[in-house]
Amino acid sequence: MDLATRTRTGSQAGLAETGLMSGWGNEFATEALPGALPVGQNSPQTCPYGLYAEQISGTAFTAPRAANRRTWFYRIRPGAMHGPFERIGNGRIVSDFGGLETPPDRLRWDPLPLPGEQVDFIDGLVTMGGQGDPAVMNGCAIHLYAANAPMRERWFYDADGELLVVPQQGRLRVATEMGVLEVAPLEVLLIPRGVRFAVTLPDGEARGYVCENYGAGFRLPDLGPIGSNGLANPRDWLAPVAAWEDREGEFRLVAKFLGNLWQAPIDHSPLDVVAWHGNLTPMKYDLRRFNTIGSISFDHPDPSIFLVLQAPSDTPGVDTIDFVVFPPRILAMEHTFRPPWFHRNIASEFMGLIEGAYDAKGAGFVPGGCSLHNMHSAHGPDAEAFAKAVAADTGRPQYLRDTMAFMFETRLPIRPTQFALRTPMRQADYHRAWEGLRKNFRPTR
Ligand SMILES: [Fe+2]
Repeated sequence: MDLATRTRTGSQAGLAETGLMSGWGNEFATEALPGALPVGQNSPQTCPYGLYAEQISGTAFTAPRAANRRTWFYRIRPGAMHGPFERIGNGRIVSDFGGLETPPDRLRWDPLPLPGEQVDFIDGLVTMGGQGDPAVMNGCAIHLYAANAPMRERWFYDADGELLVVPQQGRLRVATEMGVLEVAPLEVLLIPRGVRFAVTLPDGEARGYVCENYGAGFRLPDLGPIGSNGLANPRDWLAPVAAWEDREGEFRLVAKFLGNLWQAPIDHSPLDVVAWHGNLTPMKYDLRRFNTIGSISFDHPDPSIFLVLQAPSDTPGVDTIDFVVFPPRILAMEHTFRPPWFHRNIASEFMGLIEGAYDAKGAGFVPGGCSLHNMHSAHGPDAEAFAKAVAADTGRPQYLRDTMAFMFETRLPIRPTQFALRTPMRQADYHRAWEGLRKNFRPTR
């Protein structure tokens, strides 16, 4: 599928890379035909070029201005033009976690194999775990994907949640109502709830992770004493410029709604937005631009120092989900056990590895793999990582290069699916990671 790329950016022209606009939360304005964007009015009596005006909201109308998200589309046909929905199979997507018996075990998995038969991005999703309920807009699901086919003549939207996509292998070309974003491993993509899109695979196949956030949307964290710069800087978040296609045929619109997949006939491409303005848009971010902050004296800070995005809950100060990365960095802390310490957290941690090695683990946690350490399950460095850390010369800086791990950290425990518990990808011997730790206690010293 090729979108017409006769793009002409609006007020952001010249500020960003070609075809992209920069700045988290900005009020973007972009038009793919000159003059397509009405001036000074959102819904004029008639729109330029015979377009229809349509608003999509991502927050309550009365949400505080800083949190308010909505976008105005100027499109060839209104989004309402499609047939009735009928149920289709959910594949390996799970959204109901209530009945799952959840062991307190530490869990770890090998990478999801790439499919043998032709599988597109949606069919390639498999749910590893989750919590909460999309019907009450609380909680999340964590999926993996492995795909080797483009989405053909069908488009998807997720009414249940916002999607945070973390590619691990292969690029994704994501054509959305707002425009086209291509994301590669070491970049992440955020697709707002309800936005229609299709995914094609420039490298033929792709694999990665998805956090489906049922609750309030992800936002950049406040910086407190860090100051006005640092962590993920707003200007490094990139939105697409308007791009449209005018295609007619017998197509399908697939929706995820209250935990199930539904499909409706549609006789045209829904990616027919010629111009849009607003602050609700898919965005991508290059994790290599994360400005990593850490200790330059002693001790290892809490991992919240690596916070990229946070999705707030109804309890002030407690997030539904924190998206955290462990990027290349320099460890300078003296007289300090430098890897993550042993810990038992009230939060629950789903980790993935995009490339390289993670400093708290030796073998077993590989790129494309994942682990789950639920509420108050004890974990930390394995014997190999511990031995290395206590023998390290902390008078010298340690350079961690070519690594990118991440974590979806959640307030509620993550209930693994039957697939996650039974798949041969699961490493049954993961508890042995801590077996080699010796008793060093000597009461006389
Ligand atoms: Fe942890």
